[in-house]
Amino acid sequence: MNPAETASSPAADFDHLDPVVASDIYARLDTIRSGCPVARSGRHGGFWLVTGYDEIRHIGKDGDVFGSYVEGLGAAAVVAGVEKQERAPLFEIDGKAHLEWWRVLQPWFTPAAAKEREEHVRALCRETIADFAARGRADLVTAYTQRIPPLVIGAMLGLNSRDCTALSRRVRALSNARDAESAQDAGDALGAFLRDQVRRRMTEDLGDMLSAIAHARVDGRRTRESEVLKFMFTMIAAGNLTTTDACANILVEVLDDHALRDRCAADPAYVQQVIEESVRHEPPVAATGRTVRAETELAGVALVPGDRVVIPWGAANRDPAYYPDGHQFRPGRDRPVPPHLGWGAGAHRCLGRHVARMELAVMLEELLAALPDLRWQPGAVVRRTYGVIRGVRAVDAEWTPRLSTRVLGP
Ligand code: HEM
Repeated sequence: MNPAETASSPAADFDHLDPVVASDIYARLDTIRSGCPVARSGRHGGFWLVTGYDEIRHIGKDGDVFGSYVEGLGAAAVVAGVEKQERAPLFEIDGKAHLEWWRVLQPWFTPAAAKEREEHVRALCRETIADFAARGRADLVTAYTQRIPPLVIGAMLGLNSRDCTALSRRVRALSNARDAESAQDAGDALGAFLRDQVRRRMTEDLGDMLSAIAHARVDGRRTRESEVLKFMFTMIAAGNLTTTDACANILVEVLDDHALRDRCAADPAYVQQVIEESVRHEPPVAATGRTVRAETELAGVALVPGDRVVIPWGAANRDPAYYPDGHQFRPGRDRPVPPHLGWGAGAHRCLGRHVARMELAVMLEELLAALPDLRWQPGAVVRRTYGVIRGVRAVDAEWTPRLSTRVLGP
């Protein structure tokens, strides 16, 4: 037993991977925080649940004590060939080697590199909208928010457009699997696809992101095939599920409030404020983890090496110490100092945030330009998800097809 797991430990019966927590997650986290910002959960073999802004930020920034590799607290990966024990370059590496990986990857993630992708993303959005605009109604998650991000991250990794389409199909099959058997089949198919892409780059430098990982020398050695595979899988998750869910979270606000919708359609600067506030209010990267590497204390609680920690970034963003009205969605709020943690904190802060902001802005702009009177279908229900990622299961919307001249016209 961890010495901290005594009768006097602050305890929280909390499982971030149990779908039941999704509906009232922030009320639950508020209650836990008001007891103690570092509480012990016995689920998944035991972990510390950290809910205070200061403590979460401290964990993000102290990579010497809080290592980024953690076992058993994420959603189980069912993708064939991706070894849980392997550490994904960049994502699960700390210290000097992390900085080396960051330097290898940074050229694909600058604001200028994001800007260069904008026209490609715009074209993808228009093509996708043209496929469903005439129907007058759709679940915008399956018809739209799930469709663009895999194509964008595939292109960033270096896949050609046919392979991007194949990747997108396989990723959606996995996301939409309804039972363990179909998830396993989809995972096997995705695993085989990823392995082919990786193997090609192990022998040939194609000048793309995947080749850069495969041919880098970090920590004085070449990358193993299994590491490149884990990197590819993790980068697809980082670039795809996040943006899919962020876009769906934003659409919920847009459909709830037609004045907000119309202002977004007219004012690109406001769209950026809406994106930033949504990432604060409903961060799609909901709860990631760390492993304690050295004895330390957090909010008076003793942590020992090997302890695992769950950091629900959204709990920091609603901590009343910094956000007295944190439960309100209020675009354009004064920029708080220190900033919200929806993009993370410290060395592992989101490298893809410039790409994500551009992608989300273009997705929203194109959708509202094509379907200006977008609204909820009567009786539509918002069912939120929670886990490593937070989004909504469906966005059942309708619109007047005849207004969709932008995509349906000659
Ligand atoms: C709204 C969309 C997104 C949000 C809210 C988001 C949020 C985050 C967060 C919170 C982390 C840190 C996780 C941790 O420290 O445990 C992170 C890391 C990362 N994200 Fe994002 N992300 C988004 C989209 C993207 C996209 C589109 C890409 C790629 C194109 C991307 C690439 C990355 C990478 C590479 C890291 C790891 C950085 C490192 O370990 O040094 N993200 N993201």
